Amino acid sequence: MRRILSLLSLLVLSFAIFQACQNTPQETYETEWLGETKQEIVNNIEEQFQGFSGTMREVAYRYNELYWAGMDENWEYAEYQREHIEEAMEQGFVRRPEREASSQQFMSTALPQMEEVIQMGNKERFQENFTRFTASCNTCHAMEAVAFMTVKIPEERHTVIHF
Ligand code: HEC
Repeated sequence: MRRILSLLSLLVLSFAIFQACQNTPQETYETEWLGETKQEIVNNIEEQFQGFSGTMREVAYRYNELYWAGMDENWEYAEYQREHIEEAMEQGFVRRPEREASSQQFMSTALPQMEEVIQMGNKERFQENFTRFTASCNTCHAMEAVAFMTVKIPEERHTVIHF
């Protein structure tokens, strides 16, 4: 009886070891270029999302569109772009939280002021405010030690949306 019992416990133990070994080998995935292991894939996704420069390229495009939307008095399109600048910034802070503090004046003053002016639907007020808005971009650039990237109000139109 004792022999049967010890044989049985040996069997249970070997089964447990077998199970544990089954789980240890690293799971690999077939992907086109993302990598094979979970860690490789996660690292590549993070890298491909880029840091703040990706955010800024999007913001710069939307800043330009916003300007010409205002010049066209296409207020719906202006608000659309303003809102997407805000969203792009927020997504950027998820990737680079250390940038958030310097953008305080942009997020809680420049963007809400721009929203108010867009709601007024007055081109002169918009133009006036756009100068302040641009200065707010540059304030953050100075605070983040990239003052050599000076944002200037667009002079030429590069946009596909026309009113
Ligand atoms: C956090 C505060 C902050 C605010 C607000 C901000 N920027 Fe930037 N911007 C940066 C930083 C930091 C960089 C450099 C990014 C890097 O090194 O990855 C940058 C870079 C840029 C670049 C160069 C991107 C490239 O790689 O080609 C442009 C263009 C730009 N910003 C435009 C703007 C415009 C337009 C606004 C306002 C609508 C603005 N930025 C507001 C922080 C800010």
